[in-house]
Amino acid sequence: MKKVYKRITVKSLQEMKDIGDKISMLTSYDYTTAGIVDKSGIDVILVGDSASNIMAGHETTLPITLDQMIYHASSVIRAVKRALVVVDLPFGTYQSDSQAALESAIRIMKESGSHAVKLEGGKQIKESIKRIINAGIPVMGHLGLTPQSIYKFGTYTVRAKEEEEAKQLVTDAKYLEKIGCFAIVLEKVPSSLAEKVAKEIKIPIIGIGAGNKVDGQVLVLHDLIGMTKEFNPRFLRRYMNLHDDMIDAISNFSKDIKKGSFPNKNEQY
Ligand code: KIV
Repeated sequence: MKKVYKRITVKSLQEMKDIGDKISMLTSYDYTTAGIVDKSGIDVILVGDSASNIMAGHETTLPITLDQMIYHASSVIRAVKRALVVVDLPFGTYQSDSQAALESAIRIMKESGSHAVKLEGGKQIKESIKRIINAGIPVMGHLGLTPQSIYKFGTYTVRAKEEEEAKQLVTDAKYLEKIGCFAIVLEKVPSSLAEKVAKEIKIPIIGIGAGNKVDGQVLVLHDLIGMTKEFNPRFLRRYMNLHDDMIDAISNFSKDIKKGSFPNKNEQY
């Protein structure tokens, strides 16, 4: 690490890419975990629409609403002192037209106090992205496996393995840079393609399942700490097994209650 930052801004992220410092990014959807993530030195906290899966138990990211994203983002922002907080615009709040997109982004910024928004897609949503940026709101792009399009893809498998889709992805990434996005998430694409994009584009490329030759990495917190168990993609490194540790702790609590050993003398008034 070449430089230490007290507070992360979109400018710091660009500087990190320029000097060769990697960017760390992690999801959070609530006050308590956001405080922990921020204290751990993560540069960017993503209030991802993966909250739809992780928090609400939906099969996809599609059902989560703008109001629910604002609720999650407002809880996160109250805990954060250093990280840049980026919020996903949920499905259906920016695809119809650029006016709707602008209104959704403004609501997120105004009602949650977050610092930037993320939108999935390339050239097809250019008018929405341009209007949001023109209003002074920083936009992060998201290309490759874009989960809001899961029913179009029909599968969560690696994207852009074929030449045509890879070419389209490079074109889209260059376009997002040209219209002023401050960074792009590249999800589940071949590492050679991600490396090419990160080399040819000046803004930071943050990968998830996109190899090591990009400018930063993002994961979902609940996967990293092992609270989720069934989701096991190759790109995921689990740093804890919290699911099993929590089951141990909670079943011990239950056993202690049933034995009558909780609370003990020191745990009462
Ligand atoms: O919603 C999310 O968590 C995301 C990340 C997987 C990049 O978009």
